[in-house]
Amino acid sequence: MLRSAILAAARSDRVERLVETAPVSRAIVRRFIAGEHAADALERTRELAAEGLAVTIDYLGEDTANPQQAEATRDEYVKLLDALHSAELTPDAEISVKLSALGQAFDEKLGFANARAICAKAAEAGTTVTLDMEDHTTTDSTLEMLARLRAEFPTTGAVLQAYLRRTEADCRELAGEGSRVRLCKGAYNEPESVAYQSRLDVDKSYVRCLNVLMSGDGYPMVATHDPRLIAIGEDRAKWFDRSADEFEFQMLYGVRPEEQRRLARLGYTVRVYLPYGTQWYPYMMRRLAERPANVGFLARALRSKS
Ligand code: FDA
Repeated sequence: MLRSAILAAARSDRVERLVETAPVSRAIVRRFIAGEHAADALERTRELAAEGLAVTIDYLGEDTANPQQAEATRDEYVKLLDALHSAELTPDAEISVKLSALGQAFDEKLGFANARAICAKAAEAGTTVTLDMEDHTTTDSTLEMLARLRAEFPTTGAVLQAYLRRTEADCRELAGEGSRVRLCKGAYNEPESVAYQSRLDVDKSYVRCLNVLMSGDGYPMVATHDPRLIAIGEDRAKWFDRSADEFEFQMLYGVRPEEQRRLARLGYTVRVYLPYGTQWYPYMMRRLAERPANVGFLARALRSKS
């Protein structure tokens, strides 16, 4: 209930204005987001790399409404990739991209062309791209674009969301050689017709999907902060004889940082998802929805402005 209410608020312009301008927002934004500029993302990436952590950088933005905005997002990624390469942070730093930020919603052709330009630049910079997954109405389009991008740039990664009923089958499709798949629970408000609703059902689906990916020939990216699923990830990697360079754990910047470092010390590859940019509102609202303890923040932000 609470999760749905926060995710609904994430789509309200009025709440967005209130939260964005509330003084209390700064602290929480700093916790989850590298900063507003590419230079901030580079700085955080250096710090994380020094601690033995890999990184995937997301330039914040989604639901882009016009071609100019989509092209500006593409150009920002191209600049970022140049900067990462010059700073010798590739291949440990890769990038994560939302196709909606590149124009997918209003012009699939343009979205694809922008994604292709980013993948080409990433290949030149010696690193990889992962396509984030958004709400279920975009899943088919994203997987189709993934297949076309992989034909040219085979290391392009996908995200699959365990809460969707279709995902176990998608995992089977994508468990082949050279395929990089990030498995997460899923962060959007989805109807029962397409998504499991209870935590238990989502977790059970996660484990089934993990079994498919770990027993396959691809490269599983186990994206979760859930201690039980992390332990199951370690167990399945052993069971299927995967060495530490044949899968990785992924977590969000600012969430369970000690656990990120603990797993890295054990010799696992741990990749931190590091967002930057000014359009932090929808991303931050999804983080709040994941953790009821963070809701006090939202209440304070709204009280201080109303
Ligand atoms: P769960 O939400 O059950 O959390 C387990 C524990 O982790 C909590 O009890 C708490 O201790 C801690 N925790 C989790 N979230 C927290 C938070 N926000 N603040 C503080 N503590 C928190 N989703 C999507 O739909 N599309 C995508 O492309 C991606 N991409 C992505 C990349 C990476 C690297 C990660 C880690 C996650 C995503 N996600 C995503 C988000 C994902 O779907 C999911 O919403 C979150 O990871 C939270 O789910 P957990 O698996 O961590 O479990």
